[in-house]
Amino acid sequence: MKFYLDTANLEQIEEVASWGVLAGVTTNPSLYAKEGGKLADFENHLKKIATMVDGPISGEVTAETADEMFEQGKKIAAIAPNMIVKVPMTVEGLKACKKLYDAGIDVNMTLVFSVPQAILAAQSGARYISPLVGRFDDNGQDGLEQLHNIIFAIDNYEFDHDVEIIAASIRSVNHVTQAALMGADIATIPYAILKKCVKHILTDQGLESFKRDWEKVTSA
Ligand code: E4P
Repeated sequence: MKFYLDTANLEQIEEVASWGVLAGVTTNPSLYAKEGGKLADFENHLKKIATMVDGPISGEVTAETADEMFEQGKKIAAIAPNMIVKVPMTVEGLKACKKLYDAGIDVNMTLVFSVPQAILAAQSGARYISPLVGRFDDNGQDGLEQLHNIIFAIDNYEFDHDVEIIAASIRSVNHVTQAALMGADIATIPYAILKKCVKHILTDQGLESFKRDWEKVTSA
């Protein structure tokens, strides 16, 4: 499973890129707004991210009609060769996805909450499909079970292009564990959760005891 960061924060991206394990970044309008982003700086901000990470960077369209999404998507894709256009799962989104696919532009279809939506996304040419695990949970459904259903259903079929499932809206280390066990291709993870993924209490305790014992060796 590849690890993406789910953020528009440049410091977080720079930090995790330095770990050598960052395979991509996903952004959305809320994440950009959280950074105090302004419309005039949107493309420039995505460009900075795209140069910091050697992997797919998702920038989301905000238009509501297929034609406008297509135009906006082309602009996002032109920012850098590794830009992916994030499109919401609506009828207009499906139409835009097909047009972008036909134009050779990779799409990450987001706000996917059911098996039929996921299959439709794949059939419209989406290269990436993002089920939002935490938001299922917020809605009183088992987000991990829904993610499993979507992975299972997509695996049943061949598509005429590669399709990867991005486990999104990750809220805990257990979400990451379970997404990996069920074979999600990618998990896009907030910075705070990704830092927790590195830690384990037994790692810390083991390190402490090695340090204590090594002090006995060096002071002998
Ligand atoms: C990513 O593609 C989604 O936009 C993101 O994971 C949503 O996460 P949230 O539900 O924590 O806002």
